[in-house]
Parts: sequence; C-alpha cells; structure tokens
Amino acid sequence: MSERQHNLIVPSHIACVMDGNGRWAKERGLKRTDGHLEGEEALHRVVQAANDLGVEWLTVYAFSTENWKRPPSEVAFLMKLVDESVLLKRRDELHEKNVRVKVIGRRDWRVPRKVLKRIDETVELTKDNTGMTLTIAFNYGSQAELVDAVRKIIDSGVQASDVDEKRISANLYDAAIPDVDLWIRTSGEYRLSNFMTWQASYAEMVFLDTYWPDMDKGQLEDAIEEFSRRHRRFGGL
Ligand code: FPP
Repeated sequence: MSERQHNLIVPSHIACVMDGNGRWAKERGLKRTDGHLEGEEALHRVVQAANDLGVEWLTVYAFSTENWKRPPSEVAFLMKLVDESVLLKRRDELHEKNVRVKVIGRRDWRVPRKVLKRIDETVELTKDNTGMTLTIAFNYGSQAELVDAVRKIIDSGVQASDVDEKRISANLYDAAIPDVDLWIRTSGEYRLSNFMTWQASYAEMVFLDTYWPDMDKGQLEDAIEEFSRRHRRFGGL
C-alpha cells in the first residue's frame, strides 16, 4: 500500500455521476458515442480501483430517466453498450473479482427485453459474491424511485402515520443499498441530476473537473483524499 493510500479514509459507499463523455469526444473531434466507449473503459478502471481500495459499495449513473430525450441513435448506442460491454464482456471478470452486480431503475417498456434479460443473468451470476457491490443505476431517477416507493407503500395498505424515513428507505429499488458517503460528479458541472438524492442526504460531495473518460485510480484517490479531510457531523455538532 502506498503512503497516500495509507492516509485515506475509504468511504463505504461511493456514488458517481459519470459526466463529460460527450465533451471529451468533442474536444478530440470524435463522435459523442466514442466518448461513451471511452467512458466504459473508464468505468472498468474505476471499478477495479474502488475494489482494490476496499470500497464496499459503488453506484454509477449509467442511464437516467431523462436520457430518453437524447437522439434515438445515442440511446440505442448506450443500450447496446450497457448490454454488450458492461453486462456481458465484463461480467466474468467482475465475477472472478468477487464483485456483486446490482441494477436499480425502472423496468419499463422502453428498456429492450434483451437488456432486461442480461441484467437478470448478471445479477443472478454474481448475487452470492461477497466483495464490492457495483450498482448500475439504469433508467434511474431519484424522483421516479420515490414515486415508486410511495406507490408500493400505499399498495401495501400502510397508514399514513406509519410512514417514516425508515419505511421509505425500505421501499426504494433495493433496500439493502446503504446511504451514500461520497457522491462524485466529474466534468466540472455542479448538479445533482436526480441521482441518489434520498440516499445522499448526508453524503459528502466532490466535484472533479476531469471528464469521465479520463477517470482513473489517481483521480478516484483524489476524491477520497478530499473526503478524508471532511468532518462529517450528520446534523450534529
Ligand atoms: C454523461 O456524459 C454520460 C452518460 C449519460 C452515460 C454514461 C455512460 C458511460 C460512462 C459509459 C458506460 C456505459 C454505460 C451505459 C454504463 P454526457 O454524454 O452527458 O457528456 P456531456 O455532458 O459532455 O455531453
């Protein structure tokens, strides 16, 4: 372990908005989709790095409920990328590394059946792994997640007076996923973009100027170093 790694307080749960693929590509005169391809490589690097550093939970924003507004060709590219690269090409390696894969988001009609099937296979293959949990937020939005949670609670016949924070947390897409400790956004933008807002209520936020395709272990360590310097009070003193 390097001197630097020795001084890091490694957060248990890191959530990442992987932003800047399009701008990375534009700066190089490439297509936006080339940026997503490089972004997939970066995701793979970050997963390895987080796993090596001992992060227990890593949640990444792969496709939002708002991303359907993008041109159909880009949407189709992202669907194919998550299917063939993230869920198929990488899954044996993830499994070998003892990484458990989870997927959160709406399973609506817009997500191709083939992708839903691959999600189920990958989750099933890795479900008993005991290493890091990689959660892919796919067709995900925090507002939709809260709406879906409230619908489930109402359907279960719970009295309004019995609805509290615990009950809402228990009805999110995956109740086992803990609150976020470190919430990272790349690309120099400062927005929440509807990502894990309930779970990140007490997260430390770190914004990196790096475009996502340039993310590597060093950049992840920079964010964790920043996290290590913060004093978390959770509303107390
Ligand atoms: C945001 O960059 C990125 C996305 C909407 C997709 C994230 C996808 C990856 C990191 C590649 C891995 C693929 C999947 C599907 C897991 P942007 O396109 O908004 O970039 P810009 O803000 O510079 O235009």
